[in-house]
Amino acid sequence: MNSKNYVLVGLQWGDEGKGKIVDMLSKDFGVVARYQGGANAGHTIIINGRKTVLHLIPSGIFTDNIVCVIGNGTVIDPEALIEEIGILEKDGQNLDGRLFISKDAHIILPYHKIIDSINESKSDKIGTTKKGIGPSYFDKYARRGIKFSDFDNTKILKEKISKNLGYLTAIFPDSAELKSLNAESLYENLADQYGKIGKYFVQTQYLLNKLIAEGKNVLLEGAQGALLDVDFGTYPYITSSNPTSGGACTGTGIPPTMINGVIGIVKAYTTRVGEGPFPTELFDDTGKKIAEIGVEFGATTGRPRRCGWLDLVALKYAVIINGVTEIAITKSDVLDTFDEIKVCTHYELNDELIDTFPSNPYVLDYVNPVYKSFKGWKSQLKGNKDFSALSKNFRSYIEFIEDYVKVPVKYISTGPDRADIIIK
Ligand code: IMP
Repeated sequence: MNSKNYVLVGLQWGDEGKGKIVDMLSKDFGVVARYQGGANAGHTIIINGRKTVLHLIPSGIFTDNIVCVIGNGTVIDPEALIEEIGILEKDGQNLDGRLFISKDAHIILPYHKIIDSINESKSDKIGTTKKGIGPSYFDKYARRGIKFSDFDNTKILKEKISKNLGYLTAIFPDSAELKSLNAESLYENLADQYGKIGKYFVQTQYLLNKLIAEGKNVLLEGAQGALLDVDFGTYPYITSSNPTSGGACTGTGIPPTMINGVIGIVKAYTTRVGEGPFPTELFDDTGKKIAEIGVEFGATTGRPRRCGWLDLVALKYAVIINGVTEIAITKSDVLDTFDEIKVCTHYELNDELIDTFPSNPYVLDYVNPVYKSFKGWKSQLKGNKDFSALSKNFRSYIEFIEDYVKVPVKYISTGPDRADIIIK
């Protein structure tokens, strides 16, 4: 049996509406797996008007008989996980035999969240979600991180907690919050949490490859977006993982030879939360109108999102580095009432026109976007199912994007609900 495995990635700075598309596609897959990030993500799913925001558990959980996996590339705060499991169980979801979490995933401990907040109190802050993501990956790559598999040897686990706490209090000597922590109670609390969730942990690299061998299709669900990637994003204004498609392999143990395609998700305009460059950002009434109609507030932190026009230079870059084979455009309906809609086709940099994305934020800060203007479609997209029946202005907008990035747009989301979708 041949399985078909796809990676789904955000092509901007996150918040592209990935949760809805994963939920919609799930019926064609037997497995949905998260491969990076942690509870910094906020994937919103609306089914029959009922809204749920998931932070850790894959957005496929609302589809019957789907196995959901949280892979080794993620960093997990047990407290956030227990809370999310509780919400889903209350909602009537049975997670036994449906949720599996990697023993190799790293644990976010209370000191990671404290350090995130300390770093964010400084003038050169990144604007993180303060969920402890960066500090946890910092420990992972410094080879002192704590994994769930450390519960296989609690003596070593206790020693690691104690050593890490000693190390961190030494580098942040002024933090009363860090000083108030005690290794023994950190361990006791963690062990108590693990008691509630330990049953979900396995070596998911074996499980996923076994399911693929049995012919199950896997959808690999990225969190955040390509421009927040630690390698390809606007470093240092990034998250500390690889949301790009390559991260799907290292973050799950599914080899590149098993991946059949990459679905890229892009909003019909651009948003960003947190600090960092954003060439097409709008500071005028148009930006405010997009924010208002699009209800652009962070799903995890509630922070207002910065808004601007669609940036095709950045999009093409994201398409290339992810190997995108098909695109889903989300929130097109937000632009329904606009007279004029713009897309950025080039940047002007030092009197030259460029169409490549300078990921260095200190260069990106100085580019001037060059726009192509489109007449608004001035009609309601929601409710339509047939692309060819839509207004010519809308079709021209979509076709221009396809031609620019040389990848077909396959899905167009026209509203927040599961049903608001056009398949092209
Ligand atoms: P961190 O991931 O919490 O360390 O935050 C680093 C940067 O990534 C900040 O600019 C955050 O606003 C951004 N970020 C993290 N997660 C998301 C997300 O799910 N959507 C959008 N931005 C995010």
